[in-house]
Amino acid sequence: MTEAILLVGGKGTRLRPLTVHTPKPMVPAAGVPFLAHQLARASAAGVDHVVLATSYLADVFEPYFGDGAALGLHIEYVTEHEPLGTGGAIRNAASLLRSAPGDPVLVFNGDILTGLDIRAFVAAHTASGADVSLHLTRVADPRAYGLVPTDADGRVTAFLEKPTAPEEIVTDQINAGAYVFRRSLVDAIPGGRPVSVEREVFPGLLAAGAHLQGMVDATYWLDLGTPQAFVRGSADLVLGRAPSPAVPGRCGDRLVLPTAEVAPGAKLTGGTVIGERALIGEGARLTGSTVLSGAVVEPGAVVTDSLIGAHARVGARTVISGAVVGDRASVGADNELRAGIRIWCDAALPPGAVRFSSDA
Ligand code: GTP
Repeated sequence: MTEAILLVGGKGTRLRPLTVHTPKPMVPAAGVPFLAHQLARASAAGVDHVVLATSYLADVFEPYFGDGAALGLHIEYVTEHEPLGTGGAIRNAASLLRSAPGDPVLVFNGDILTGLDIRAFVAAHTASGADVSLHLTRVADPRAYGLVPTDADGRVTAFLEKPTAPEEIVTDQINAGAYVFRRSLVDAIPGGRPVSVEREVFPGLLAAGAHLQGMVDATYWLDLGTPQAFVRGSADLVLGRAPSPAVPGRCGDRLVLPTAEVAPGAKLTGGTVIGERALIGEGARLTGSTVLSGAVVEPGAVVTDSLIGAHARVGARTVISGAVVGDRASVGADNELRAGIRIWCDAALPPGAVRFSSDA
């Protein structure tokens, strides 16, 4: 038996402008709640028991995933009254674990999309005899992350806060948000108060001489911390770059859910997803974008790398790029929205109200 703790709580969703009522793990990516991809990947890798550790809106998960049988899993839920941080949440899940003290327990951050080979990760953990193993990934610009240097054998040597000066960038390896803990170390995390794994648990274990093993690989990895990253992740799932057994349909240039209506002259590319009951008008062009359920994209609109919220409307000929349009928002015809702009849920933009390019 392999069991896992999935961390899906915290201080709130960073997708708030789009999803006021939907915690991020439940926002559809490639047509299904994002969490379904992580659960399906875990199941495919032989995980059979998952504890979902959450601290907010916990009751949205259980009605959807239930006992997990549809995914070949047994899922249990544990809710913190106040967010306990990543370490506190892991500790809070311990009472539901069935593993023996020496067994491996997987832990996954709920906001990461990755192609990590979970079986190989657990096998490497067991072979190394480590107390905790950490999936590490290399990033081109590590300045936004805590750094995790390792020695020649892959043993973690330090946990470094976000670097502020160039000489502090001693490695490009960062914590990728997946761990294998020896069960007894889960039980040893202090209970009943907020605890951070990165700032308290791991540095404390290192200082106490524990064996923390890094597993660095070059597999697909994306932190879904921003709506733009979420759209990218959804497109990569559809394109097959991010492997997931939960994508409903064949991977390819587009995914159109069965109840959506797409005009014959509309063009969908780059992993675009059209959600249930959404309508895409004649001549619309959508690239690398996610259109959530019930949204309408009118004829001639051009939507690139953007998220169109549930029941939102994009007017005719409007050009949208790198944008988030909140649930039920309405963008009138002939607008031009670019570069990270977010239209709040329920907001209405009149026709021809915004443009970025020159009038010439
Ligand atoms: P700390 O390490 O506790 O300071 O958290 P962090 O803010 O560095 O964590 P981050 O925001 O990167 O979140 C990592 C994962 O842990 C995400 O999937 C979050 O949903 C989850 N998470 C963060 N804080 C909590 C928490 O208090 N409770 C639970 N259940 N999950 C959390």
